[in-house]
Amino acid sequence: MAGSVGLSQALSYARDLKALYESSRARERELEQTQERLRGAYQQSLQYAIDLRKTYRRLQHAILQSLLGLANALEAKDSYTRGHSERVALLARRMAVSLGVPGAAADVIAQAGLLHDLGKIGIPESVLRKPGPLSNDEWEVMRQHPLVGAQIVAPLEFFDEGAVILRHHHERHDGSGYPDGLRGELIPLGARIVAVADVYDALTSDRPYRARLGRAEAVRRLEEQAGRALDPDLTILCIRLTDDAPAERPV
Ligand SMILES: [Fe+2]
Repeated sequence: MAGSVGLSQALSYARDLKALYESSRARERELEQTQERLRGAYQQSLQYAIDLRKTYRRLQHAILQSLLGLANALEAKDSYTRGHSERVALLARRMAVSLGVPGAAADVIAQAGLLHDLGKIGIPESVLRKPGPLSNDEWEVMRQHPLVGAQIVAPLEFFDEGAVILRHHHERHDGSGYPDGLRGELIPLGARIVAVADVYDALTSDRPYRARLGRAEAVRRLEEQAGRALDPDLTILCIRLTDDAPAERPV
């Protein structure tokens, strides 16, 4: 009798255990399915994030391209400045890369090189293309272009470093530049690079008042500005880089 009670109890335990096992297996399966769904949702949101990032980049690119269109339109009006910004950008990028500036930051410096005189769009033609020397008042207007350029690009959060370069590309190493009179290394590196590239290209381009200078004379004038208007180390770098790439300028 006692043996049959023990056996039926054991059978009952075994049934309970089986039921428990089956229910825990069922929960495990549910959990696996939930995890699977979560993984799917995660992958999908990751994909959304990637797509969104791509769209954002495309948008950034489109905005920069339209600004560039504006800058080009401005430059194209004047045969003397045509292509100037592109050459400044090219040289500025080479200088940045050779200094070890990381790719994305070098890109911003090059883009700022392309747009450095964008603010001239706000300057009246009568001042911008005046054949003779500018009066004090006209210079005052001309000196607004770094600020105007920085204001134009200010709403572009992704280009805040670029806006800084636009603002400061006419600061001088000795502190006598504008708009803020910054001195030496207080001038952001990108702005110092663009400043050197800007002067170099101006010296080696035709201007209404003179033909482009030969290499030796351009180097002499550039060296003259080292430590005064231009960062001395960056001036040396510019001379070195343009020496081994004489074919960079279209003839
Ligand atoms: Fe400028």
